[in-house]
Amino acid sequence: MSLQGRDVISIRDLSRTEILEVLNAARHLIPVAEGKKRLTTLEGRLLALAFFEPSTRTRLSFEAAMQRMGGQTITIADPSVSSVSKGESLSDTIRMLSCYADAVVLRHPFEGASRLAAQLSDKPVINAGDGAGQHPTQTLLDLATMLERFDTLSGLKVVLMGDLRYGRTVHSLAHALGVFGAELVLSSPASLRLPEEVRRDLDQMGSKVREEEQLERAIKDADVLYVTRIQKERFGDLAEYARVSGSYRFDPALLSKVKSTFIVMHPLPRVAEIPPEVDRTPHAAYFRQAFLAVPVRMALLSLILAGKTGVRGGG
Ligand code: NCD
Repeated sequence: MSLQGRDVISIRDLSRTEILEVLNAARHLIPVAEGKKRLTTLEGRLLALAFFEPSTRTRLSFEAAMQRMGGQTITIADPSVSSVSKGESLSDTIRMLSCYADAVVLRHPFEGASRLAAQLSDKPVINAGDGAGQHPTQTLLDLATMLERFDTLSGLKVVLMGDLRYGRTVHSLAHALGVFGAELVLSSPASLRLPEEVRRDLDQMGSKVREEEQLERAIKDADVLYVTRIQKERFGDLAEYARVSGSYRFDPALLSKVKSTFIVMHPLPRVAEIPPEVDRTPHAAYFRQAFLAVPVRMALLSLILAGKTGVRGGG
């Protein structure tokens, strides 16, 4: 099935083949993302971005992706200056955006908001994060980062660390890694474990998953450490946040115990999970990961909006 005209709400909406199609296209689009080559595949296309939660990378990389491909964007980046502040409902906002633009990207604090938007919109909807639910396009760029480093996704040993309960990036990523046959090690405080339904889904796929609270033991023989921020905004009880916020800080001394090819990833923003000394080591992959957001979103947007990327070999 082609990706043209499709919604991307959960990573489960994409098959293994479709994920690989996006990643392959993204690889070919890197020179365009770097501004070294020009493409106009998305000329005349307009993307609406509606962000009801803070964002730097996700929103700007969607905008960069559209513009690098010749397309344009309209944006609600601050709901307080839109009619949302007058009490307009999410459904009315989505209906408007879908008449103005060719596709809608939505970030919203409520889990399920993007699925609802997709039901209301006759244009494709892309979920850029719905509460503690899913963040499928982040997963695509996470996978692109691993694939670029290791040339494969199957058989990788990936440690997911930090806030596995509220972190939507890990909910999407865990499923995708399961699809590609990676081995998962979960390292979180007991109160921030991966939700039951995400875990059950991995079990149903027959994925190799284990929990290991001790980070030093978890990263032994690992290929990737995926660090997440404790999601302060999702805690009902700030005292509980204060209790866990200092835990799971990556100690750079641990780098003396890892494989030479080991990488540290983070969807960013980081707060204090990874000290800046790690940035200078060859293990730091998070800035490359942030860059790959652009070619990956270029690939996805051009496949959804135009059914092709326009670059040879890139679909
Ligand atoms: C993440 C998010 O919004 O879920 N950020 C991102 O999109 N790169 C991670 C986070 O906020 O911790």
